Amino acid sequence: MSVGRCTHAIVRSIPDSFSQQALRTMDSGQVDTARARRELELYTRLLRDKLGLQLIQLEADDSMPDAPFVEDVAVVLNETALVTRPGAPSRRKEVEAVKKALQDLQLNVVEMTDENATLDGGDVLFTGREFFVGLSKRTNQRGAEILADTFKDYAVSMVPVCDSLHLKSFCSMAGPNLIVIGSSEPAQKALKTMQQMSDHRYDKLTVPDDAAANCIYLNIPGKGHVLLHRAPEEFPESVKVFEKLKDHMLIPVANSELAKVDGCLTCCSILIDKSPSL
Ligand code: GLY
Repeated sequence: MSVGRCTHAIVRSIPDSFSQQALRTMDSGQVDTARARRELELYTRLLRDKLGLQLIQLEADDSMPDAPFVEDVAVVLNETALVTRPGAPSRRKEVEAVKKALQDLQLNVVEMTDENATLDGGDVLFTGREFFVGLSKRTNQRGAEILADTFKDYAVSMVPVCDSLHLKSFCSMAGPNLIVIGSSEPAQKALKTMQQMSDHRYDKLTVPDDAAANCIYLNIPGKGHVLLHRAPEEFPESVKVFEKLKDHMLIPVANSELAKVDGCLTCCSILIDKSPSL
């Protein structure tokens, strides 16, 4: 399985309740809903118009303020989609619309029904070879075990996450063998744990800002390696590091309003590969 292959993306619109009711780990100021909607609109257009993905846009629902962060409610790999049991009880009903969209895409949908399990997709890092699952306030061991049971062909290792919302709050993939990681002590500690648990040696790209380490890597036919990363206005020093990636098409994406409620770039889409198999 190569990481970054993708033909479809599920996104979900921002409801009016977003600015007042979306969960947040800290007070980062008032969310400007109009600006958050513009950020998501540009993100959506980028995936659809510039990168050629087929977009499935789910409707906003005022009773689900965090629903635009669709990544948390499903983990999709090959033909299988695991619909999660999100760690925050207020987010559990987000799964219904996403489940239906995944079924409509003819994926083999597995539901996490165990009431002792919790898993947010933001805690799931797939490297192309194996999974790392963050054990956080949102994801527990039972959730990670169900993921391992669902994707039996891949090793699953658990990584404690203490100081951030999710594992991918400070890391992501930037290429088939390349992990981007933030510089904070907790991020570096998590990377060390991942290195110790894997028998594969990954390359790493260390960026000064943890939040900038959440990128979207895509491998698009005709375009090659594509990296969506946070904008230079937000993280200028980290962008200087990305600019060293000479083989990638680098695309800066503004995300400052969504970030106020812990939204990062990967949070806002579920990426799915429906390419015909060779
Ligand atoms: N606001 C994103 C989350 O807490 O799940």
